[in-house]
Amino acid sequence: MKNTIYFFTGTGNSLATAKKIAASLGDCDLVPIAPYQKTSGDIVPSSDRVGIVCPVYFTGLPAMVASFVARLDLTGVPYVFSVLTYGGGGEKSALSQVDGILRKRSGRGLSAGYSVLMPGNYVLMYEPPTGEKKEMLLSTADVKLQRITDDILQCKELPLPRSLLWWLLHILVYPWFITRVHTKDRKFSVSDTCTSCGICASVCPAGNIELVEKKPVWKHHCELCCGCIHLCPERAIQAGKKTTGWGRYRNPEVTIQDLQLKRGNEQ
Ligand SMILES: Cc1cc2nc3c(=O)[nH]c(=O)nc-3n(C[C@H](O)[C@H](O)[C@H](O)COP(=O)(O)O)c2cc1C
Repeated sequence: MKNTIYFFTGTGNSLATAKKIAASLGDCDLVPIAPYQKTSGDIVPSSDRVGIVCPVYFTGLPAMVASFVARLDLTGVPYVFSVLTYGGGGEKSALSQVDGILRKRSGRGLSAGYSVLMPGNYVLMYEPPTGEKKEMLLSTADVKLQRITDDILQCKELPLPRSLLWWLLHILVYPWFITRVHTKDRKFSVSDTCTSCGICASVCPAGNIELVEKKPVWKHHCELCCGCIHLCPERAIQAGKKTTGWGRYRNPEVTIQDLQLKRGNEQ
């Protein structure tokens, strides 16, 4: 059985998740969503099983993922699943969003939708978990992912988990996010500790960072994945004052190089 998993990731939770599912499924193409920003038109995968793996942003999908899913023609695909990683809530409304876009586009929704609680990385709002808390979240996520993968291997069809409360919140919060997300990088700044290594630019899935006079400059088509902030080896990138003292996060099973490759430019 031929499989394709499309993924988007900022700090590696969704990439680690997609990689594990791909390894269990066998014949599987792991395809980054980011390079599709540079193309237009329908995307018609020829696989028997197609998956979409990405984080939850503001109770919904990252902007780039929502646009990508709207281009997916899955009318000929027998089994379609989604696995969303998230840090606290809004995963059900985000799954409903994937399902809704697919139904509109392809006349078919998800065969099954899943979510995995992982360390939250929204460093504009809170410090990511560290130590035991982080380890516990990751090991619990692994156990859940094993169950999810077993389901996907059997092509289980399941009703989508739904929550009216989260959907109402989604209706309130998500449009606010979508209309502001690309310019949220106005909050970002770089300190003198920057060594001009260029990792921030190379990991940015939106290609939103340019090095000008060896320092990062954000170009206001940000996805707000926070990858530049978390992955800077010097912690030189801040989003306001409070991030100065806060820890950073990268999924421990994913390397900087893995995250550079996800842009697809280097493949
Ligand atoms: C801009 C932004 C918004 C987020 N919004 C939510 C949210 O609404 N609900 C939630 O549970 N987690 C939220 N998160 C946390 C991420 O969904 C979570 O950490 C995810 O696993 C990150 O995946 P990644 O490492 O693949 O980027 C948000 C993170 C970011 C960067």
